Amino acid sequence: MVTAVRISLSSVASRAAAVVMMLLLSSACQAQLSSTFYDNTCPNALRTIRTAIRSAIARERRMAASLIRLHFHDCFVQGCDASILLDNSPSITSEKFVIQNNNSARGYEVIDQAKSAVENVCPGVVSCADILAVAARDASEYVGGPSWTVKLGRRDSTTASPSLASRDLPRFTDSLESLLSLFGTKGLSARDMVALSGSHTIGQAQCVTFRDRIYSNGSDIDAGFASTRRRNCPTTANGNGNLAPLDLVTPNSFDNNYFKNLLQKKGLLQSDQVLFSGGSTDSIVSEYSRTPSTFSSDFASAMIKMGDIEPLTGSSGIIRRICSAVN
Ligand code: HEM
Repeated sequence: MVTAVRISLSSVASRAAAVVMMLLLSSACQAQLSSTFYDNTCPNALRTIRTAIRSAIARERRMAASLIRLHFHDCFVQGCDASILLDNSPSITSEKFVIQNNNSARGYEVIDQAKSAVENVCPGVVSCADILAVAARDASEYVGGPSWTVKLGRRDSTTASPSLASRDLPRFTDSLESLLSLFGTKGLSARDMVALSGSHTIGQAQCVTFRDRIYSNGSDIDAGFASTRRRNCPTTANGNGNLAPLDLVTPNSFDNNYFKNLLQKKGLLQSDQVLFSGGSTDSIVSEYSRTPSTFSSDFASAMIKMGDIEPLTGSSGIIRRICSAVN
């Protein structure tokens, strides 16, 4: 009798364990992003986003760079949840004004335009976080960079975190060790980090971010390059916002020139040059400088990996009606 009760108890326990396992598995499946996420609910989502992004980049080519960076600055702060897009409000303290974003991150209005175009075709379905991820891919493709299949199904946060933004977004003064450790905390390897930094093959930086480096007279910067850059970046603070291309050779096309520059000590930011300055990532930089196809495919894989950082899925988060505010 006792044995029978024990047997049935143990079979109840094992059934319960099986149910728990199934629940865990199904929530894990639910939590996964998928490229077909909107196929039934908003079949025109991708086409609509693409049209908005392409027309914005056609108006201003630099926008491609700004949109790739916006997705990055979203994903590194509490995951890819569009938290970067939230404006200040009574319940939100925006991430837009932390030092790494303030007067620097741009493209917010382009995401708003894409969102309103998508809302016209399928209201309340497509998240701002997914629009950021798709915009980054479309931007890369438009300026001659790699393309990839974007996984979808992220939802939007109801919170923003300036303190996490200031902690988790890299700074141009960071050492190679701190950058590696920061990217590591986001599940990204040294190779991912170097590949992703290759997006500095397009876009611009402000004088304030590279002034110390070009006036350093250090041995890790090409003297001719430093003197050219000084012409438009005076030592006085009124030149702080003057722009220079991150890739001096082909600033408008997405290629592997960024890595060739690093080999010649012509990285604009200190955080660029640390990737090739006698440290552990030198060999990756050399490889990408020699083999553009490897850079392209590694960049695409790393962007997919970055887009996977802590998404809100299932019933977590919301689909914002406008990207800059919580519904
Ligand atoms: C490794 C650490 C990184 C640091 C320290 C860093 C820092 C910076 C800085 C200081 C600027 C110039 C901003 C300005 O002057 O307003 C910049 C621009 C840019 N960054 Fe990074 N970045 C890093 C990694 C990345 C990654 C991983 C991506 C993309 C996945 C990226 C994409 C861009 C792009 C495309 C621009 C040009 C933006 C524009 O022209 O609007 N960066 N970055």
